[in-house]
Amino acid sequence: MTLSSKALTCSAVVALTLVACAQNRPPASASVRMNPADLVATRQASMRVASGDFMVMRLAAEKGADIRRFEGPARALAQWAAALPGMFPAGTGPGTANTHARPEIWLNRADFEQKAADFRAAVTRMAEMAAANNMAEGGRQWDVAWHSCNACHDAYRSPLATSAAAATSAPHRR
Ligand code: HEC
Repeated sequence: MTLSSKALTCSAVVALTLVACAQNRPPASASVRMNPADLVATRQASMRVASGDFMVMRLAAEKGADIRRFEGPARALAQWAAALPGMFPAGTGPGTANTHARPEIWLNRADFEQKAADFRAAVTRMAEMAAANNMAEGGRQWDVAWHSCNACHDAYRSPLATSAAAATSAPHRR
């Protein structure tokens, strides 16, 4: 092999390595994508987890728990509400896995986001009332928040099978 052909071979190897490196580069965050079926499963699970936290707060408060301890969980619900619209990107409507999302979410997007914001405002106020140990106003805000769960479902969720529906029913009041 002559010197020049050896140099050519080396530079070709270098070029190929660079191409390979370019292909192995981690994608920029803007290009991160989640499989639509996984996204539906994640948002449905998040609804159930949020629902559980929400119900437990009410039941515990009614049983005399120190409501100041609910400030953190209520703020977590507000954080979840802020992320909620982002869990419904275009392309994850009816026909995606077993979603109950209605097409109106993407037709009336501003209203859908407003309903998430209404819920967020109510649980934020609930967190403030929990911190202030104000049971009466905290309970009232719980009711406002519960109403906003249902307002969103009435407009944007198709009927669930009975076992899923049971998870959204109001806690037993004594
Ligand atoms: C801004 C709208 C909105 C708000 C607020 C909201 N939800 Fe939902 N929820 C939905 C939509 C849309 C679905 C259907 C999601 C899917 O199937 O992809 C859903 C689904 C659910 C489900 C069924 C999950 C499953 O396994 O299929 C439960 C339970 C639920 N929500 C409870 C709640 C509770 C409790 C609250 C309030 C604490 C709440 N949601 C607040 C829109 C909302």
